[in-house]
Amino acid sequence: MTLTGTRPVLTVDNLSVVYDVDKPVTAVKNVSLTLSPGEILGLAGESGCGKTTLAYAINRLHKPPARIDTGSVTFHDSDGTDSDLLALGDEQLRAFRWSKLSMVFQGAMNALNPVISIHAQLDDVLKTHRPGMSKADRRRLCADVLERVGVDSKRLSSFPHELSGGMRQRVMIAMALILEPQVMIMDEPTTALDVVVQRDILREILRLRDELNFAVIFITHDLPLLLEISDRIAIMLRGEIVELASSERIYREPEHAYTKKLLGSFPSLTGERGDFIRTGDHALRGESK
Ligand SMILES: Nc1ncnc2c1ncn2[C@@H]1O[C@H](COP(=O)(O)OP(=O)(O)OP(=O)(O)O)[C@@H](O)[C@H]1O
Ligand SMILES: [Mg+2]
Repeated sequence: MTLTGTRPVLTVDNLSVVYDVDKPVTAVKNVSLTLSPGEILGLAGESGCGKTTLAYAINRLHKPPARIDTGSVTFHDSDGTDSDLLALGDEQLRAFRWSKLSMVFQGAMNALNPVISIHAQLDDVLKTHRPGMSKADRRRLCADVLERVGVDSKRLSSFPHELSGGMRQRVMIAMALILEPQVMIMDEPTTALDVVVQRDILREILRLRDELNFAVIFITHDLPLLLEISDRIAIMLRGEIVELASSERIYREPEHAYTKKLLGSFPSLTGERGDFIRTGDHALRGESK
């Protein structure tokens, strides 16, 4: 995919987030990045470096003691309008979330309400955001989106505890997809799942991205995985993005000492450098194209 020259869908400029506790912590420091339509931007860094804090702040889901100290987040809608996300009123923000920009939270599969059917939980998003839609159309859309993420639509009547972890995670992705947002932020969407299920789901995400052209900020500490699926990767260290480049470049010519250290900490990436992207391990990326 050629991304140069495209108008971005999201611009984060100089964003800083502080936790106002006894000894205030600046968890996100002067972060700037752009996201192009259809792009998968990986965000990697060790536990506690500020990935989730950044994701929440972009979506304006942060709560006290977290506070945005500096910076701006601009959404460039495909209809040509720009919105300053940090300046939106509560009502505008509610309309915005899920429909323009949605999020799959860290540990999301455990966030489904156990006593409400899958259908009712998906339908809730539609009832709120598509009030004019008929019940039959909503039902059809819920079934469609579930099939899209690889879950049989018969499962609409199931309750979360009747589904495997992988299926529940797919349901969360379906929920994030149902209004066809232009941007999805996925925070460790597959980390809790076994490798086979994880790869199936990633394949699905790549396929859907190709079909629907949404952009993704994909957060994980799993750098090998990001190298496979991302167009570009941002490396975060103690709240700062210390390097941001194409996956290829991060892999072949890492510049920052921390990026090198991170690459070196994955046995699968060390040793015969150069083989990883070209051969088997990179098949996932190849398959979706
Ligand atoms: N509620 C809070 N109060 C004070 N400080 C916090 C709070 N939540 C997070 N922090 C600080 O912000 C930093 C970043 O946390 P964050 O959850 O964003 O990291 P992360 O990169 O998502 O980690 P992980 O990979 O474990 O999910 C933490 O190191 C911590 O110091
Ligand atoms: Mg996190």
